[in-house]
Amino acid sequence: MSYRNLNISYEVFDNIKALNGADHALCLKAEEALLNSYSPYSRFKVGTAIRLKDQRVLLGSNQENVAYPSGLCAERVALFAIGAADPNAVIESMAITAKTDNFVIEKPVTSCGACLQVMAEFEQKQKQEIEVLFYCIGGEIIKVKGIKNLLPFVFVEARLEG
Ligand code: THU
Repeated sequence: MSYRNLNISYEVFDNIKALNGADHALCLKAEEALLNSYSPYSRFKVGTAIRLKDQRVLLGSNQENVAYPSGLCAERVALFAIGAADPNAVIESMAITAKTDNFVIEKPVTSCGACLQVMAEFEQKQKQEIEVLFYCIGGEIIKVKGIKNLLPFVFVEARLEG
């Protein structure tokens, strides 16, 4: 038996003004994406903005359904839309934010495990790390470079690849 440790690295910024110009703009786009959230059941809006290598920015938001499990998180809505429309697109960075009228969100909202798994697959496919910004409106931003820092025990099995 042996013990092992994993180190996870990320940056924390006090507010949106502390970010570089491109990241600042991407967070504002994620906020804009909240407008199209369809979340009548949870009343919890999630928005994401994805910057591609060619500097295009695409938006996504959570889309819920009365059959609850049929809904989908903002991150996967945006990622799968990119995969479907432009399979060779290379993702540089994504910003994620959330908003609800039901309580105050004091800290950045992080992505669920299923979304992280999908981010990991995109990263592997494009052979380039993805940066993720978790943006709390009016507050902190967590910046993570590479999905391995978010999901160190990601499921991978090269022999399942086509
Ligand atoms: N949600 C996201 O859009 N992204 C996540 O990573 C976690 C949760 C959505 C799903 C649902 O519409 C609402 O937030 C409440 O769980």
